[in-house]
Amino acid sequence: MPARLGRTAAPDGVRVTVRQVASHAGVSTATVSRALAGSTGVAESLRRRVLDAAATLNYRPNRAARSLRARRSLTVGVVIPDIQNFFFTGILGGLEHVLQAGGYAFLLGNSDGRADRERLYIETLREEGVAGLIIVPTQSEPHEYRELQAAGVPLVTLDRSANGLSVDHVTVTNREGVRDAVRHLIALGHERIGFVGGPEHLNVAQDRLAGYEEALTIAAIPVDRSLIQSSDFQQSGGRAATDALLRLPRSPTALFVANNLMTLGAFEALHERKLRIPDDVAVVSFDDMPWATSLHPPLTAVAQPTFELGVTAAQLLLDRFREPHRPFRRVVLETQLIVRGSCGSRAGSRA
Ligand code: RIB
Repeated sequence: MPARLGRTAAPDGVRVTVRQVASHAGVSTATVSRALAGSTGVAESLRRRVLDAAATLNYRPNRAARSLRARRSLTVGVVIPDIQNFFFTGILGGLEHVLQAGGYAFLLGNSDGRADRERLYIETLREEGVAGLIIVPTQSEPHEYRELQAAGVPLVTLDRSANGLSVDHVTVTNREGVRDAVRHLIALGHERIGFVGGPEHLNVAQDRLAGYEEALTIAAIPVDRSLIQSSDFQQSGGRAATDALLRLPRSPTALFVANNLMTLGAFEALHERKLRIPDDVAVVSFDDMPWATSLHPPLTAVAQPTFELGVTAAQLLLDRFREPHRPFRRVVLETQLIVRGSCGSRAGSRA
């Protein structure tokens, strides 16, 4: 069952009213309601005064009353593919930051990357009467999500997308991020660069592979298919794929690994062979990680703005609630190559 997040009760049981917040902030009750709903027509200074007053008084919206007035549930459904992957922690933080400010809670489901689990969670969340859904899709095929659209359920896809689906979407510069990172490895003198990719059916994995191939083409280095291993975005998969690359007769002098968990697996495979990073094999990861600077050597990574991804997805959904017929938006956030020691460059420089 989805876990209920984002809901807190007034500790002393006394419910603070909108009128009290308005009086404390020195604004009208209408301004308080608009500010808390995230409406665009409120000056930032007033919004800040209202939020500060609400925090000071420990105001908690009367969700049942608001739900009745708004004729909409004040709960949102969120489905992610891997609750154990810390990449999604930053996303959930950003989601919660915006949804709570807007008076919404969210129910979280973990699809485990499986279409059947995702389908079950979508059905369950709809039965719960959620106001809308934010999904990191397990499938690239749109038919899985068209039924939601036909039913008029507000839907935002995040990170991975479903091909050809007309829906609000937020992701990052997957292809450009990989291209620039691999070009950085080429600039360091590497030509035999192994690629450990994600599941081939996911468009984020396809885009990252395209960035790798583009970087080689720009440098007029032929793409050697034996240097490309597809895997599963999991640590064990990253280790197995790296093992396969290291068993090649002419093994790579550098590795680009297409996500955080597989990078940890690649490190395992290299350390098991007592291969030195970067002297024997340089390593660059897609996805930064909280302990990147604790690894030895510190990890060079293509960082995604995870908190901002979550913030943007939640804002897209709240905008959809306010304007159901607004044009769909596709927001692409910038990745950033953070150069540390694992690629062999001077540690701490920004590429
Ligand atoms: O590590 C999880 C991966 O899946 C991340 O790269 C993120 O982009 C998601 O697609």
